[in-house]
Amino acid sequence: MDNFTFKNPTEIVFGRGMIKEIRSRVPVNVPVMIVCGGGSIKRNGVYAQVKKALKKHRVIEFWGIEPNPLYETCLKAVELVKKNKVKFLLAVGGGSVLDAAKMIAATAVYKGKDPWDILRTNGAGLKDALPLGTVLTLPATGSESNGNSVISRKATQEKLFFGAACVFPVFSVLDPVTTFSLPKKQVRNGIVDAFAHVMEQYMTYPVSAPLQDRFAEGILQTLVEVGPRTLRNMKDYDSRASFMWSATLALNNLISCGVPQDWTTHMIGHEVTAFYGLDHAETLAIIMPGVWMNQLERKQAKLRQYGERIFGVKTAKAAIARTEKFFNSISMPTRFKDYDIDAAEVAKRVSARFAERGSKFGEHNDITPRHIADILASRK
Ligand code: NZQ
Ligand code: ZN
Repeated sequence: MDNFTFKNPTEIVFGRGMIKEIRSRVPVNVPVMIVCGGGSIKRNGVYAQVKKALKKHRVIEFWGIEPNPLYETCLKAVELVKKNKVKFLLAVGGGSVLDAAKMIAATAVYKGKDPWDILRTNGAGLKDALPLGTVLTLPATGSESNGNSVISRKATQEKLFFGAACVFPVFSVLDPVTTFSLPKKQVRNGIVDAFAHVMEQYMTYPVSAPLQDRFAEGILQTLVEVGPRTLRNMKDYDSRASFMWSATLALNNLISCGVPQDWTTHMIGHEVTAFYGLDHAETLAIIMPGVWMNQLERKQAKLRQYGERIFGVKTAKAAIARTEKFFNSISMPTRFKDYDIDAAEVAKRVSARFAERGSKFGEHNDITPRHIADILASRK
């Protein structure tokens, strides 16, 4: 097992009716800004619950964070933060709203010249941000309990991430009931995103870390079990609660302790979203089987272990096939043709961008733009 440090400072407040708990956790007597998306929280009653809990607080509101949140929108929110001397942010919504709140929190106190540098450097050296809390309404990203944020820039069609300890939420409320209003497509996306997060921290090579492996496999097994169930019965509290908790644990720094990671699928996926607008999870379902097939030899041992323990199959190739079957079984396509997108064109555009940046990925840091072109072209 490799050396590691582990710290997750986010307090999780989990369960039915728990939004009221924010009352004692959000600071009083200072301006607080709630950060919101396009309106789903008005329709499902979450906004009303938040307002009720904060009726003694000094609250201003920022609306309009879009899915795949835009840098340009975050800058508008920062103006409002500065004008009102906001001291605490409360993000209410899905991963996009949470990610945007992190960017706003960091930019509001940023001393450098150009806040885009936060993303260009992936958060290197970032030490300060306004404190923030979250009320999560979409299980998927793990943003409620990690220090990551993914932001897109409209002007340049870029999508970059930053990570920093200072943007871990102070607390996050997870009430599964708030997710009952999600359309099936978003639930499906969340299952696949959480599944892929586990994989990016698991599908590498063995390093004698059996507990991390079992944690990861436990989350995968739970997703395979409760994912289809929560899609079949969209109001079943227990399945939704297990799904929600699985998505948090999939990306809260726990399962990555002391093990190699390979975020190739996510890095490619972000570019595909930036160019073609596919949902984040839609890109992952296409790309991940391609990365594994391309790296079949190097990932052989973990692919076999995964196949055997999760699906009861014997070979690495069968494990890949079963994964695609699982995605398809929850109505998630796994090929570019399902979106009428030309795989050869994607391969060209995305690999050129990585070549420009000199990017290399993978647990051995040797997946090059050439490999990426092959991976994408193979997913037609
Ligand atoms: O904007 P509103 O009106 O709120 O509607 C949203 C949005 O249209 C809607 N929604 C959210 N909760 C709802 C709901 N609709 C009905 N009922 C509810 N309870 O769902 C739509 C999608 O929301 P979004 O926040 O975009 O989805 P998700 O949580 O999947 O977030 C995706 C973003 O997170 C990034 C992705 O790249 C993408 O930009 N990621 C962030 C990560 C992180 N911070 O660690 C890691 C991930 O790998 C990922 O890259
Ligand atoms: Zn993801």
